Amino acid sequence: MKKGLFIVFEGGEGTGKTTAIDSIYNWIIDNNLNCIKTREPGGITISEQIRQVVLSKENKAMDARTEALLYAAARRQHLVEKVIPALEEGAIVLCDRFVDSSLAYQGHARDLGIEEIMSINKFAIGEYMPDISVLFDLDPQIGLERISNNDCREINRLDLEKLDFHQRVREGYNIIFENNKDRIVKIDASKSKESVIDQIKNILKPRIWTNIN
Ligand code: TMP
Repeated sequence: MKKGLFIVFEGGEGTGKTTAIDSIYNWIIDNNLNCIKTREPGGITISEQIRQVVLSKENKAMDARTEALLYAAARRQHLVEKVIPALEEGAIVLCDRFVDSSLAYQGHARDLGIEEIMSINKFAIGEYMPDISVLFDLDPQIGLERISNNDCREINRLDLEKLDFHQRVREGYNIIFENNKDRIVKIDASKSKESVIDQIKNILKPRIWTNIN
């Protein structure tokens, strides 16, 4: 039975999710709570292997449906092997991306259909959905500039898509947000790192302390 809290961070490229997750993780740990941080696609060996395949710049021939299925397969393995056991132990799970990424990237930007992508993902995740999703909203032009200036981040197959694709990803996320306001909170990722982290802490505080105490 699920006892923990499943918190997911979503958004386009260069929106600052990964840096923010590190700060939020440290903040939660400093408060002596049980917390793990993880990512999709990846987080455990099998899903990291799938990540290599799906994001390799060599795999130019990859079909959009194959891509969608690989993300769903990586998600399934990560969920059963890492996320569910941690939640059952009562941990707070901070996850960099989950099903909304597939809905925005494959469903909307790749034009496979948000509903269709949700249906293949239902097979992978069953009823497991995040308790709260934090959506980092940012003009993709700014996001792509940020990643091109970040020497530590390797450029992957999806980063190489044209600006128009990334604009469609943002549009996709906003459609999903409009239909799921009970679960998704949108933040303005163009603000300073400190302000973004403060915004997230204020959103998470009541959820974390109500859930855990
Ligand atoms: P990131 O972990 O560096 O954000 O890279 C993951 C990439 O994979 C990013 O471009 C978003 C993309 N992605 C999808 O297209 N669909 C998905 O379901 C997931 C989890 C990621």
